[in-house]
Amino acid sequence: MITLTVNDTAYELDLDPRTSLLDALRDHLALTGTKKGCDHGQCGACTVLVNSRRINSCLTLAVMHEGDAVTTIEGVGTPEALHPMQASFLDHDGFQCGYCTPGQIISALGMLDEFRSGWPSHVSESLEGEPELSNEEISERMSGNICRCSAYPNIVDAIRRARDESVATGG
Ligand code: FES
Ligand code: FES
Repeated sequence: MITLTVNDTAYELDLDPRTSLLDALRDHLALTGTKKGCDHGQCGACTVLVNSRRINSCLTLAVMHEGDAVTTIEGVGTPEALHPMQASFLDHDGFQCGYCTPGQIISALGMLDEFRSGWPSHVSESLEGEPELSNEEISERMSGNICRCSAYPNIVDAIRRARDESVATGG
């Protein structure tokens, strides 16, 4: 038995210890917004936040997350009240089939937090001379999230606008 806190709700789950966090979310909690693409750490479709840091949920076991705070796309916004990042993806056509989109949005939120905290510093340093958080840096920092529809330019535009608005409003 483990207690998993997901989107501010604590769940008691009786899991095989080999269950990945991704399978616990999808198969045991019916939180199917988090997608399974490759199931071995190559596509980023399964990205969730754990204690505000983005991770591939297919690569970690659920039992390792007792006491952690997990955020999935279901905890980010609702159709009636979209998170600004979700609204920006809509406005900028940041998707085609949409399969990668929950992972892209969660990853973008984690990425902006990492950027604000200056982590990892080598990414910014390798792009020295570029404008702050250039499109190139956004692409580099989002490179763990694959889009088979190749919607990358619009994904970058969506993240940039959401980030610029959040800076403008002090968010
Ligand atoms: Fe986890 Fe592809 S499903 S990285
Ligand atoms: Fe289809 Fe990204 S929108 S995989």
